[in-house]
Order: sequence, then structure tokens, then C-alpha cells
Amino acid sequence: MTSTPVANAAMHHYWNEVSGPRWVRVQDVIDRQIAPLGERALAAAQLSPGERVLDVGCGCGQTTLRAAAHVGEAGEVLGIDLSAPMLARARERAREMGVTNVRFEQADAQTASLPQHFDVLFSRFGVMFFDAPEAAFTNLRRALRSGGRLAFVCWQALTRNPWMLVPLTAVAPLVPLPAPPPPGAPGPFGFADAARVTRILEEAGFVDVGVESVEETLLVGPPDVNDAARFLVAMGPAAAALADAALTPEKQSQVEQAVRQAIEPYLTPDGVRMPSASWIVTALSPQE
Ligand SMILES: C[S@@+](CC[C@H](N)C(=O)[O-])C[C@H]1O[C@@H](n2cnc3c(N)ncnc32)[C@H](O)[C@@H]1O
Repeated sequence: MTSTPVANAAMHHYWNEVSGPRWVRVQDVIDRQIAPLGERALAAAQLSPGERVLDVGCGCGQTTLRAAAHVGEAGEVLGIDLSAPMLARARERAREMGVTNVRFEQADAQTASLPQHFDVLFSRFGVMFFDAPEAAFTNLRRALRSGGRLAFVCWQALTRNPWMLVPLTAVAPLVPLPAPPPPGAPGPFGFADAARVTRILEEAGFVDVGVESVEETLLVGPPDVNDAARFLVAMGPAAAALADAALTPEKQSQVEQAVRQAIEPYLTPDGVRMPSASWIVTALSPQE
């Protein structure tokens, strides 16, 4: 499989050098947090034994491995991602679990030359980072057989996601944060506008586009509230700005304390539970 390295260069750098290595370190915590949303998207994908699935932006592979269990030994799942460290973790997990019907490839979903035989395209939060989403989804649609299915989950707007908004609001008075990106810019909230997502998919040649709102309370970060605050500082939407700010240890501890106070109202016996809102998006490749 080949892909042109020119597209999505900033994301290639970000997911290989900045966020990917951090993500690998806390992969188990992230997986626990967003697993319920991946399961909702997998249910929407309606996988059957024997099917061939492409997991787009598969990261450390949790959903790739779950999809592999759904399609069984007669089926196969290919996970593609920009991030070498995340793919290394995904391959390691497949080996540890003895799963043989998955493969992982480093590729840019927007430009990769993909086999054109998949029954299903799937993604958990891996399709909002393309610099040219219409081109990316056109490329992906070509990898689907006639009548094949698309199912993915993406975040709604930041204001609809207290689990990210609350820590960000707590940090804002302490550290200068960059202006929010323009609507639709590549990033976690790039697909917040459901009408725009529908238009992108239709322009890419998909039909029967459906968008369902899912509001789910997520178990955020590790169970201990102090650890959860540290997790949100390291991985939340302010993480890049905080890393760039090179905080003194005293300021770092002020930031963590502010986030801890902000999330404390959400503490339950199981850990911090906070509301989230995402879209489950489904579509079909036209029948030829
Ligand atoms: C938010 S993470 C989600 C990872 C994984 N799907 C999960 O749920 O754990 C987004 C992933 O999309 C990948 N990604 C971003 N742009 C991509 C592109 N153009 N092609 C392939 N993967 C991409 C990133 O490297 C990253 O692993």
C-alpha cells in the first residue's frame, strides 16, 4: 500500500511525534473511556462473520481487534493509521491476544492506494483530521465494494462535551490558550457540524447518509480524581498549549489543582463520570 506524504503533514507530525507517544502511554485509560462509543459505532456497522473491514485511523487498535472478533476467522480487518508508535502498540496487542485476522499498515487514509474490496469502513474518532475531507472520503469510498457500509463516531462541538470543556475552562485563567480553531478545521471537533459531514459524504459519493446523536456519560481518566485531573491536563484539549507553555512545577501544580476542583462535582464511587456528545454517522456506497 502506498500513500503520498504531502497531505496531512501537520497531522503526521502531531500523531507521530507529539500525541501518539503520549496516547500509547495511557492507551488503556483512553480505551476504557471511549469503549462505549466504539461499541455504539460497531453496532451501527452491523458486522457479520466473513466480512472485510477497514478501520480508519485505528490508533492502538482496540476497535480493530473488536471488529476482528465480530467478523471471525473467515473475515479480516485492516487497520490504517498515520502514527507509527500507535500502530506498534496495536500490532503488539494483536500478538498478545493471538488474533490472526488483523493487519495494521501505516498509511494516510486521504491518499493511500487501498484494496477496493471492503464490505465496511469503520472508524472511532479517526476521520476528523483530514485537510481535504471530500478527497479523503472519495478515496475511502473507492475502497468499498458496491453497496458496502460506512459507520463512524465523531465528536459533536466542544460546548456539547463537558468532559473536555470543563477542564479547558478551568485552565483558561491560568495559561494563555490559543484561539479556538475555525469551524471545520481538522481536529477533534472538525466534524461537529452534522450538516457539513452529510454534505462531505454526499460529495464523496456516499448515499443514505444517517447521523444519530449519542449522549453518553463517560468514565474519564483513571479512577482517582487527582490522577484524572493529571490525565486531562496531559491529554485534554489544552494539552498542546500547556506543553508549549513549558510551565514551572508550581504553575503545573496550580493547573492540575484547578482541573481537579472543576471535575470534583462529577466524582462517583467508580471515578469521574462526565457527559459527552458524539455523532454516529452511517452511509452506503451506491449499488452498481
Ligand atoms: C483520536 S485518535 C483515535 C484512535 C483510535 N481510532 C481509537 O479510537 O483509539 C485519531 C487517530 O486518527 C489517526 N489519523 C489522523 N489522520 C489520519 C489520516 N489522514 N490517515 C490515517 N490515520 C489518521 C491518528 O494517527 C490517530 O491514531
